Amino acid sequence: MSTPLAELLERLDAFRSETLAQLAAAASLDALESVRASSVGRTRGALNDFKAQLPTLAASDKPAFGQRFNAVKLELEGAIDARHAEIAASAVAPVAIDLSMPARRQWRGAKHPVTIVMEEIEAIFRDLGFTIATGPEAEDEWYNFGALNFPPDHPAMDMHDTLYLERGGLLRTHTSPVQIRTLQSYPPPIRIIAPGTVFRRDFFDASHAPMFAQIEGMAVDEGISFVDLKATLANFANRFFGETKTRFRPSYFPFTEPSAEMDVACRICNGAGCATCKQTGWVEILGCGMMHPSVLEAAGLDAQRYSGWAFGMGPGRMALQRFGIPDIRIEYDSDISFLEQFAQ
Ligand code: PHE
Repeated sequence: MSTPLAELLERLDAFRSETLAQLAAAASLDALESVRASSVGRTRGALNDFKAQLPTLAASDKPAFGQRFNAVKLELEGAIDARHAEIAASAVAPVAIDLSMPARRQWRGAKHPVTIVMEEIEAIFRDLGFTIATGPEAEDEWYNFGALNFPPDHPAMDMHDTLYLERGGLLRTHTSPVQIRTLQSYPPPIRIIAPGTVFRRDFFDASHAPMFAQIEGMAVDEGISFVDLKATLANFANRFFGETKTRFRPSYFPFTEPSAEMDVACRICNGAGCATCKQTGWVEILGCGMMHPSVLEAAGLDAQRYSGWAFGMGPGRMALQRFGIPDIRIEYDSDISFLEQFAQ
């Protein structure tokens, strides 16, 4: 017949083996926690029941049981810690590398088509001996209109409605004020182009936007004539568009006399007529003319001695032609699938 000590030790060992098996089987931290609570846990742990048996043993048996009890308790606690580390490590592992995952697409930045066109125009005029000049987008009425020979309340200003700022300021409606600012700062001979942003109360349609880029051009010296203007712009058009038809139409600007507009054959429809060219087969890309003597004089030059010509072109419309874009509003859409086509 077994003694109470032998029987208790046997049960303790059975409990030990069973708990170790449960630990090995615990696959998650939650499962492990419930094994811990039911074994060595302070409130519900089965080890407590073994401890409660101590007073029932003979005094001489108590040390033997105590030793065994402490050894089992330490072993189980150690095994629980080890299993905890194993489960925690295996939970992280699958996330580290997934070789079946598709590679991330490389992000490639691209220049906006209008920027590409502007840089190309600048390069052509730099070749022709022009320097780049700039001026403020917030102008005043004198630079934007008065110095450019717009009489007060002239109907030509209707096409140049804009936002007015405090103290007579306004958002410039064209880059032509840079003509005046440049002539005030540098003596002739002058050949400049002035790229920049301009603002107008225009409808947002297939060929207009209320805020757009312009490039002004100006040449001033003694003896400059309309021949120089036409030759320069023809040379430019051939370089920029390759073989393309161009035409000059008489026009009116208060600051040039005579004035003209230059059109190129529409490339979207090859001259057949479409929304971009308003069914005419031609697209206006610039206004130009001989500088009015009163503009030269407003800038402080002797108009008897000097003459000059100027033009203002729209790189946004030229980008439509260059890249076959059917509607200018697309240039303002920030649509990635459109823009990334221009990545080199
Ligand atoms: N400033 C004019 C416009 O915006 C264009 C232009 C510039 C015309 C220079 C003639 C000379 O419409």
